[in-house]
Amino acid sequence: MSAISDIMRRAPVIPVLTVERAEDARPLAEALVGGGLFALEVTLRTPTALDVIRAMASVEHAIVGAGTVINAPDVDAAFGAGAQFIVSPGLTAPVVERAQEIGAPILPGIATASDLMRGLDMGLDHFKFFPAEQAGGAAMLKAFSGPFAACRFCPTGGVTAALAATYLALPNVLCVGGTWIAPPELVRAGDWAEIGARAAIAAALRT
Ligand code: 3PG
Repeated sequence: MSAISDIMRRAPVIPVLTVERAEDARPLAEALVGGGLFALEVTLRTPTALDVIRAMASVEHAIVGAGTVINAPDVDAAFGAGAQFIVSPGLTAPVVERAQEIGAPILPGIATASDLMRGLDMGLDHFKFFPAEQAGGAAMLKAFSGPFAACRFCPTGGVTAALAATYLALPNVLCVGGTWIAPPELVRAGDWAEIGARAAIAAALRT
């Protein structure tokens, strides 16, 4: 199992995916990996999410994570389905402790200095900054870099293709997350060519 820092460094963008039909999982993951995005966040927001994680986990080079993990049973369910990392919109002791107990890399969401300090107390220094645009955007991450110089972030929430480069230029940002690469309407339409093209553009953001 890779450390969360390694997963975050695999590509500049983690696509955030909400997938309704399990049969879309494989072609979707293949399009994203083919475009150069390897870490994929499947949100636990659909009844099929665990089946989607299971299917994507068998796609070569895909590193499949579960997102929208909001309690300890979610951590167990995601891990049981083959998720290789856990993403949470917030930072709570039950979620972080369960992930640490089972050795699952975790990227919990923070939006304030106090959230960050609780995370540091739990032995964490890599965080999702969520919801990034609404919680202060790139200026907030610049401000965090003073008191929390060792922390690294994946801003997610309101990040667009245009904003991604601004975030990625910050030294404390390892990657960004967002839905623009594979929004639900493109997944529903099965437009793997467009998703693959968006993935390739996103993968080239930091080269
Ligand atoms: C989500 O909550 O769906 C993602 O974290 C962010 O979504 P967005 O890229 O559409 O803002």
